[in-house]
Amino acid sequence: SLSAPVLAIESSCDDTACAILSPQGEILAERVHTQADHAALGGVVPEIAARAHLSVLPGLVRETLEESGLDIAGIGAFAASTGPGLIGGLIVGSTFAKGLAIARKRPFIAVNHIEAHALSPRLPGHGGDGIKFPYLLLLMSGGHCQCVAVRGVGDHEKLGGTIDDAAGEAFDKVAKLLGLGWPGGPALERLAREGDAQAVSLPRPLLGRPGCDFSFSGLKTAVARQIAPWGAEALPRKVAADLAASFQRCIADVVADRARHALEQLPAARALVVAGGVAANGNVRETLEAVARDHAVPFFAPPLRLCTDNAVMVGWAALETIRAYDAAGIPLEDGIEIAP
Ligand code: KG4
Ligand code: ZN
Repeated sequence: SLSAPVLAIESSCDDTACAILSPQGEILAERVHTQADHAALGGVVPEIAARAHLSVLPGLVRETLEESGLDIAGIGAFAASTGPGLIGGLIVGSTFAKGLAIARKRPFIAVNHIEAHALSPRLPGHGGDGIKFPYLLLLMSGGHCQCVAVRGVGDHEKLGGTIDDAAGEAFDKVAKLLGLGWPGGPALERLAREGDAQAVSLPRPLLGRPGCDFSFSGLKTAVARQIAPWGAEALPRKVAADLAASFQRCIADVVADRARHALEQLPAARALVVAGGVAANGNVRETLEAVARDHAVPFFAPPLRLCTDNAVMVGWAALETIRAYDAAGIPLEDGIEIAP
């Protein structure tokens, strides 16, 4: 078992993050650095991201340690996301954490990034600690879009995923068509407040079809077709707002339909949980809340900073993994790598 804090690193996409958690899961310190370079380029460039992680990480880890008031010698275990994600960044973060573990003769815990999102609602003190397995996770961000049955630590199953774009990617691409900045989700949601969600009839891909896969590229094409007569430059604000509102409604409807099917596939589900940047969307949240109500399961969305990529969830997944090893009677040897 672990008697000293865990230091965790996240570097699978464009966020470089470090967190230190007590063995009970209390956040002792936390730092997230979001790489700004990608905004101008309209998306994450893997090579640039990996180099940025490399230059930011040493300082970020030092600052996180200082904030916690701990010396590196006071860290009991090191953890990092080892995948899935952009391989360059994953190598930077996991090699850094592993190097510290080897130097300090402490365990290194390899954390699956999806599992980290999946377990994040169980972090104590954020409203979801009571959440019991199994539960259904809808993970929707710029990079992920999946329904996951979370049955236990190290035991999660993808029930469905996207066959083209991720939900956040669809928001970003449509926002770009509407002439909004990147990332597009928050800007599109703001514009949608001025619009009428019934104004434009758009397709609802896969709605009503069996299973819980997603598809968004047809929807994006339909929006492009609506914009074409004007061109993005000359698009009247009212038309743009109506399109944004109608598009957002479509996404929420599709996501709700998929969640319903996923809940039917996991009848034992004890909660519906949403994570990823798209969980910030008010429309999506409300619609999923209604789905949960219909299925008589509690709905839970972790606070936004735990929904998007962060190192707290990586540290928490490491703690849950260590606990599962303890429960199974597997000793946590110094310097031994444990992969979930
Ligand atoms: O989890 P996240 O911060 O990073 C990863 O992609 O891993 O998610 C970012 C994604 C972007 O695609 C962004 O447009 C979307 O989440 N997003 C939103 C909102 N806030 C962020 N989409 C819709 N509505 C929002 N309010
Ligand atoms: Zn993620």
